[in-house]
Amino acid sequence: MTFKIGLLGLGTVGAGTAQILLDSVGRHPLLQELEIARVGVRSPDKPRDIDLPAGILTTDLESIVTDPEIDIVVELIGGLEPARSLMLQAIASGKHVVTANKAAIALHGAEIFTAANEKGVYVMLEAAVGGGIPVIQPLKQSLGSNRIQGVMGIINGTTNYILTRMQLEGADFEAVLADAQKLGYAEADPTADVDGLDAADKIAILASLAFGGRIKREQVYAEGIRQVSAEDIAYAEKLGFVIKLLAIAKREEGPTPQIQTDVEDRLQLRVHPTLVPKQHPLANVNGVYNAIFVEGDPIGQVMFYGRGAGAGPTASAVVADILNVAAVLKTETEPIPHPLLSCSHQHYCAIAPMEDVVTRFYARFLTQDSPGVIGELGTIFGKNGVSLESVVQIGMRENQAEIVVVTHDVKEGNFNHALAEIRNLEAIVSIPSLLRVL
Ligand code: HSE
Repeated sequence: MTFKIGLLGLGTVGAGTAQILLDSVGRHPLLQELEIARVGVRSPDKPRDIDLPAGILTTDLESIVTDPEIDIVVELIGGLEPARSLMLQAIASGKHVVTANKAAIALHGAEIFTAANEKGVYVMLEAAVGGGIPVIQPLKQSLGSNRIQGVMGIINGTTNYILTRMQLEGADFEAVLADAQKLGYAEADPTADVDGLDAADKIAILASLAFGGRIKREQVYAEGIRQVSAEDIAYAEKLGFVIKLLAIAKREEGPTPQIQTDVEDRLQLRVHPTLVPKQHPLANVNGVYNAIFVEGDPIGQVMFYGRGAGAGPTASAVVADILNVAAVLKTETEPIPHPLLSCSHQHYCAIAPMEDVVTRFYARFLTQDSPGVIGELGTIFGKNGVSLESVVQIGMRENQAEIVVVTHDVKEGNFNHALAEIRNLEAIVSIPSLLRVL
């Protein structure tokens, strides 16, 4: 039996995928039954390192997704359009789809999965989150018996690379970003990565699988790393933390946490730089590496770690998805999605507003060096129900006292009320940093 693959895109991941498909030796035997039938590209004459069969390149991507010969469409062009439309066309033409496109799935997943379920085809997305790290299938299958309490991860390699270098070199964000761009670790337009949007796409997908409901992408709170400074990394270090861009999806417990109902359970969905205690497993995930930390009942804690981007790791996940679909097609006679592969959530998860999120905070204040300033800060925090874990004045910066505060768990809304009052104090010059603490 041969399964014909229509590949959309021959960039880094597309070429990596083609390379595995063309070199089946020592891999799963089913690979020998996969054939790259057609490849859609923008520039067919561009020189490439890959040795594809003659005549399979085309610029007409629509003709691939509607080609009656093709069984599985592999979408690796990325971005929202034309990727969304091509996936929908492929589904309408009865093709199974494998994609690495986190942005299109996070924003248009409901539309794409509804169309796929109606048509009885699979949409597979292991490569969309964490590159080569197997995390989608574990959430769908291996952890299926668990009540998931939270999924939390470092799921953007670019920002983890930048933060790791800032930490190691004591360097500022802008300098490391510029160097990362030169070295190819950050895009010329780094917005999606450094502003937390890429991680927000990915956590929306993970949350949907972990908590069994649809997620509205715009409800994911996203704050990037542009405001993280070398000073904060140094203070965090002294206090026993490293700063990481964490993506967090967490179930807020209702009054009866053991009973799952849509009414009681709300999710926290947020991406922001976070002070992570040095002894936490995520604190040691460095450079371009990603990790996803899952807590469930009864499994407890489990962490998936590996390379979250790049040709090889991402193609590893893409080809695994193709193999899974091919394996099912080989044995299945009914054109109804295999329950282990399909995604059929109908309802939307309730998302808690950020003011209700309970977390610890780190805040850095520049103040006049006058008597009673720490006392005033303490009084305002206390009045607003914010309990302080530590207050340190380590030194002076430009003739101003630098005071760093770490709170105990506090409702974000209460913390913001306190800050609004603190900003009005005469002694406060500025509040250069506000970060959440795990
Ligand atoms: N820019 C992404 C990252 C690529 O740095 O993780 C993989 O999605």
